[in-house]
Amino acid sequence: MVKVFIFNGSLNRNSTTDYLIKNFLNKLKQNSDIELSTYYLKNKEISNCIGCSRCFQNKECVLDDKDCFDKVRAEMLDSDIIIIGTPIYANNVTGYCKTFIDRISSWCHIFKLIGKRGVIITTTSNSGLDEVNNYLYKVMSYLGLADIEVISHQLNKDNINRTLDEIDYISSKLINNIKNNEKLKFSKLSEESFERLKEFYLSENANINEKKYWEETGMITCESLDKIIYERR
Ligand SMILES: Cc1cc2nc3c(=O)[nH]c(=O)nc-3n(C[C@H](O)[C@H](O)[C@H](O)COP(=O)(O)O)c2cc1C
Repeated sequence: MVKVFIFNGSLNRNSTTDYLIKNFLNKLKQNSDIELSTYYLKNKEISNCIGCSRCFQNKECVLDDKDCFDKVRAEMLDSDIIIIGTPIYANNVTGYCKTFIDRISSWCHIFKLIGKRGVIITTTSNSGLDEVNNYLYKVMSYLGLADIEVISHQLNKDNINRTLDEIDYISSKLINNIKNNEKLKFSKLSEESFERLKEFYLSENANINEKKYWEETGMITCESLDKIIYERR
């Protein structure tokens, strides 16, 4: 069973991003003889982070009582593939997408999503794709996601059939990697962040709760993310 978590940053009922995501999921199903289960997060109320920093101290988020975002985090932790889709608004991710990312940003200090694969799906009329794809690639890398793939569509320029072909290609590659138990590939950004954070958690200034997590998971003594995965195999 392969579990897929999807977040769509568009609140538009007639969403192009949604259309591409659904195509991607259909292709995943077609290209796979493995059973797939999906959790699709869209149009759900997500509260804006209030900056209390409790999450960085490994404490419960005070907003979870209000919007049950703890259930969303649990779904993500239980998944094999994480898809983040968003339209471009004012050359950036949508506010809704940023709100979602802020609520999991403490995970960027501890590579909480290590062991999972990431897919970025972005749509725009003309502009902003590079900035947004680079940003989401960085966020996914810092979360510990591997084999990150990017699917983008520019409404005023790209041929939709070509984008759908790209979706077909990437979905079958992803499924083959999973089926063949291919080793996860981390981005350079992931490994650089690992080196930087490890140095910090070995220092006097380290946040005690995050340091504890690094110690308990054994990351503190590992050379790289690549080695962690190698040892876990
Ligand atoms: C508020 C808003 C801001 C937008 N900003 C940009 C932009 O900066 N550059 C651009 O090329 N398209 C922009 N667009 C167009 C959307 O990115 C494009 O229509 C996208 O495919 C919408 O995705 P959706 O249908 O999934 O919501 C904007 C659209 C809206 C509603």
